Amino acid sequence: MTELETVFAVHSNSVRFGPGALAEAGDAARDLGMRRVALFTDSHLANATPWPDEVRAGLAKAGCEVAVYADVRVEPTDASFMAATDFYKSGRFDGIVSVGGGSVMDTAKAALLYAAYPAPFHDYVAAPYGRVLPVPGPLPPHIACPTTSGTGAECTGIAVFDFEANAIKTVIAHKWLKPSLALIDPRVAATMTPGVLASSGFDVFTHAIESYTAKPYFERERPKTSAARPMSQGANPWSDLGSLEAIRLGGRYLVRAVKDRQDHEAREGLMFAATLAGIAFGNSGVHLPHAMSYAVAGLCHSYTASGYEQNRPMVPHGISVVLNAPSAFRFTASACPQRHLDCAAALGADISGVKLEEAGEALADALTKLMRQADLPNGLAALGYGEKDLDALAKGAATQPRLLNNSPRPVTEAELREIFKGALRLW
Ligand SMILES: [Fe+2]
Repeated sequence: MTELETVFAVHSNSVRFGPGALAEAGDAARDLGMRRVALFTDSHLANATPWPDEVRAGLAKAGCEVAVYADVRVEPTDASFMAATDFYKSGRFDGIVSVGGGSVMDTAKAALLYAAYPAPFHDYVAAPYGRVLPVPGPLPPHIACPTTSGTGAECTGIAVFDFEANAIKTVIAHKWLKPSLALIDPRVAATMTPGVLASSGFDVFTHAIESYTAKPYFERERPKTSAARPMSQGANPWSDLGSLEAIRLGGRYLVRAVKDRQDHEAREGLMFAATLAGIAFGNSGVHLPHAMSYAVAGLCHSYTASGYEQNRPMVPHGISVVLNAPSAFRFTASACPQRHLDCAAALGADISGVKLEEAGEALADALTKLMRQADLPNGLAALGYGEKDLDALAKGAATQPRLLNNSPRPVTEAELREIFKGALRLW
């Protein structure tokens, strides 16, 4: 008989949060033993925002030697991860300070990994494309400074990338990839356009709702050793705390933050929600909307989102996830209806009188209402997808076992096709 899990684990990195946190990068780097620092960022951030320069100046003031790598690719690939690794290896650095969104922070994680523990690229990659070998040990220090409020990448041990040979987004995931320290400075919200803020902000909701509704840790097989316990261990009392509060803060602040660049309370609140959600899902995992998003982003190459005009055409991560979310939650609600209702209530919906069998619809409605208010695209059809693409989308999502196994309700490829169909148009 299968023995079920009885223990959950909390892995968390250090966090400093508040206006001015970026100014502490120099002292923090010295504390972590860094003298030669690689500062990772992307060219847009380096040219159009003050943050990489501010952090570089702070590091220099603290006596660190700094070399800037501004060639991080937005929506990175295996090739761009390796290019960054080459840069890191060539400089004999003590660690990385990353200033950017999820792409920048994830690229820093990968560069530290492959520089510290060289291996064929697919060795550390998630199944089914990689060998899922565990990261052998701790990595050199990494201070992550997010410039968007959504990915939570500053608090997770996950590096997302496009595996080009397989035309799919996948990940490298291990606890040792977590940054040593996150410096989260809400001042960066002022340089986010409404489009970037909306896209990354909705990722907060999906992280938190997927984390809260993930198949719980106690319904899983107990691993043979404690070291084999995955970070995606399922919903647990610790991740529930951060998830619910992130949904509540996001529900209160996201639309305000998108509509008004001067609404500092809303933008700061959203930034904290993103951090909470990152800590939560980094210890529980996400499921269907994220599994589906990797197919959406992998197949669509002609869409340009508001706020991302400087990039080549692509679907920003947050949009590729949340457009699937209402349809996915209608499907998963029957497995844990009360949890779906809790999420609808945390989003601000009035759930008095809503029956448990209506929980999926209630959550989908609450989320869709916010998406309309924030001017998000009306479903996958707005990205150019139609009925003809449903088979390919379902096939792509079906190859994400790491995420699908986290779903509270088992899902087949045929069911994924139907869920995608329900995501074509949202209103
Ligand atoms: Fe995400």
